[in-house]
Amino acid sequence: MTITATGLSVIRSGRTILHPTDIVIRPGERVGLVGASGSGKSTLGHVLIDNLRAEGVSVAHVPQSPDEALDPLRSMAFHWREAERALELSADPIRQQMLFNALHIEGGDLRKRPWGWSRGMQQRFVIAMALIGTPDLLVMDEPTSALDPVVAAGTMDLLDAYLKDRQTALLLITHDLGLAARRVHRLMVMDDGKIVEDAPTERFLMAPKTQAAKALCAHRNWLELPC
Ligand SMILES: Nc1ncnc2c1ncn2[C@@H]1O[C@H](COP(=O)(O)OP(=O)(O)OP(=O)(O)O)[C@@H](O)[C@H]1O
Ligand SMILES: [Mg+2]
Repeated sequence: MTITATGLSVIRSGRTILHPTDIVIRPGERVGLVGASGSGKSTLGHVLIDNLRAEGVSVAHVPQSPDEALDPLRSMAFHWREAERALELSADPIRQQMLFNALHIEGGDLRKRPWGWSRGMQQRFVIAMALIGTPDLLVMDEPTSALDPVVAAGTMDLLDAYLKDRQTALLLITHDLGLAARRVHRLMVMDDGKIVEDAPTERFLMAPKTQAAKALCAHRNWLELPC
């Protein structure tokens, strides 16, 4: 299904942190949302998810911090079971093992609570939870921020493989243009609570138009990064 949302906006403490914004993402399309820290990317992600879920659209979310997804008082096994239950799926140890192996967290002790796992392992666990089902949209907010570059690249490869045979659309939120440019069809740039540029990835990289986009593209060292 095509993901559409219109007039998304957020005001906090009397300040507009997201100006009215429309989003359209085609089935299977991969879109990057990039921009400086504080430009409103996570805010847009959250309000988009809330709106879509209220309309019954299935959305999986990998929040910027694993803390947003994991309850410190609950075991990792509990979180996994809850994620399956929310999707009305019965427990499937083979599916679980496959995802854990792919994300290299098979050594994690599921009886432990989140703080018994490293930050990077928690982040990969949350990514694994998001990949249990086949949502209409997968929103990933800085999904590799706690991972080393090699594990980050492997995680993004897994994501590519997951999306390949599905109609699931991806919104990849990051301030890392290098990461986004390798993985998405289209890039949207946020600046001060507004989407100021929205273009196919290649065109964007060849000819950024706005100051915010030019500033992102000016950092050419991203070409050498592995992911
Ligand atoms: N609960 C809140 N109350 C007031 N202002 C907020 C709140 N949450 C976020 N903001 C402000 O909204 C703006 C956008 O924040 P947001 O977290 O969406 O940015 P971001 O682009 O995701 O940044 P980053 O790349 O650092 O994750 C920032 O200026 C932030 O200070
Ligand atoms: Mg953010």
